[in-house]
Amino acid sequence: MEVKLLSARFDIKDAHLLEVAKAHGAYETLDKLFTMTPVQVMEEVKNSGLRGRGGAGFPTGVKWSFLPKNLDKPVYLAVNSDESEPATFKDRYILVKDPHMMIEGIIICCYAIGCHDAYIYIRGEYTSQVKILQKAVDEAYAAGYLGAAVGGKDFRLDVTVHRGAGAYICGEETALLESIEGKKGQPRSKPPFPAVVGLYDCPTIINNVQSIASLPFILANGADAYRVYGTEKSPGTHLFGISGHVEKPGMYELPLGQPLLEVIDKVAGGVWKGRKLKGIIPGGSSTPVLTPEEAKTVTLDYESMAAHKTMFGSGGIVVLDETVDIVKLVENLISFYHHESCGQCTPCREGLGWMLKIVKKLLAGDGGREDIDLLVELCDNIEMKTVCVLSAACTMPVRSYLNKFRHEFEAYAAEKASAKPDLREE
Ligand SMILES: Cc1cc2nc3c(=O)[nH]c(=O)nc-3n(C[C@H](O)[C@H](O)[C@H](O)COP(=O)(O)O)c2cc1C
Ligand code: SF4
Repeated sequence: MEVKLLSARFDIKDAHLLEVAKAHGAYETLDKLFTMTPVQVMEEVKNSGLRGRGGAGFPTGVKWSFLPKNLDKPVYLAVNSDESEPATFKDRYILVKDPHMMIEGIIICCYAIGCHDAYIYIRGEYTSQVKILQKAVDEAYAAGYLGAAVGGKDFRLDVTVHRGAGAYICGEETALLESIEGKKGQPRSKPPFPAVVGLYDCPTIINNVQSIASLPFILANGADAYRVYGTEKSPGTHLFGISGHVEKPGMYELPLGQPLLEVIDKVAGGVWKGRKLKGIIPGGSSTPVLTPEEAKTVTLDYESMAAHKTMFGSGGIVVLDETVDIVKLVENLISFYHHESCGQCTPCREGLGWMLKIVKKLLAGDGGREDIDLLVELCDNIEMKTVCVLSAACTMPVRSYLNKFRHEFEAYAAEKASAKPDLREE
């Protein structure tokens, strides 16, 4: 089931170092790149069908084509390495195991979109990772792969590594741009979209680490070779982080379109300790949960996830065994999003706090059935009424737990009912 397009050098000792990466093929696409026109590169990426790996799955080549033509302003690229979504740890592998694959991807992207200044925005908590990344960037400069004449050609490209300060919201693309500009990391209203008005008011492409790291394979082998893997609408491979209650948690590269339960059994060793499956979070904490029954028909691609009313997300799969207390899980989930709210929208700032209080009340045995209904009502009133989708990233999964595991919330509500003194007259 596993394939190694992106992870081909992950098992090679010291492949994060230029010398080793080069000995195993790094930067070999550059000769081909400079024989192509930027439009040809963009077409190749469009034809590959590569979809953004940051969560939303927007086609990468199509996004690039939204850049305005014939502008007198510079174009920027920001590589989103914030990777803060709980249960997501795929980009970290690229950053530490094969950063030169990403830098090569940056060169390909920048050549295609006409960008000469790229930023890698890396999450603040990645302290050891940033050192490896910065060293790789320095090595690429020293070897002439970055700087005034990339690969000895008439093409300048400067790359700056920018560290975040530990805020989940800075993974949202416009908050990320604000943060690079030195401002508070708060999302901007869209439109205008960053491809038109982005960093320093200039056209900007924001792409995830894995999207960018997929480019060397596509350029070297062509769009058709990439489409050998995956499905018609979800071509290629994906780095899946599988965690939670499985025997073999880890990062696995798989072609898209694989049956979810087969992946859990055959790749991740199945539910641990012989326990029963309770649910699966398919793509990071913000994606609606799947029941074991639903999971039977899900395949790991964008279209199957959408058909099951959930999302592919970041490829961070979490397996929940029968011992998981869903209400406690939901408390944990809301605490995270409440803490990470940037605070500029009232429904998000106040609403998530209110939801958290209600769940805590239920857990303390002080909540009633009306509190469960109130939680649903709050989800309705918060979702899609805010500047960005952080609030929905909380309410969508919470709604799924309320729908699919309502009996667990009701069990806590019943505790309150049973604790009530019986005031009826004999
Ligand atoms: C609250 C929030 C957090 C996000 N965090 C990340 C992140 O850590 N990494 C990432 O690539 N995209 C993240 N995104 C998605 C980005 O806004 C953006 O869509 C993505 O970087 C685009 O890259 P892609 O087209 O290559 O997927 C986040 C979005 C939201 C709303
Ligand atoms: S939804 Fe939340 S995180 Fe997003 S802009 Fe509004 S307050 Fe900030």
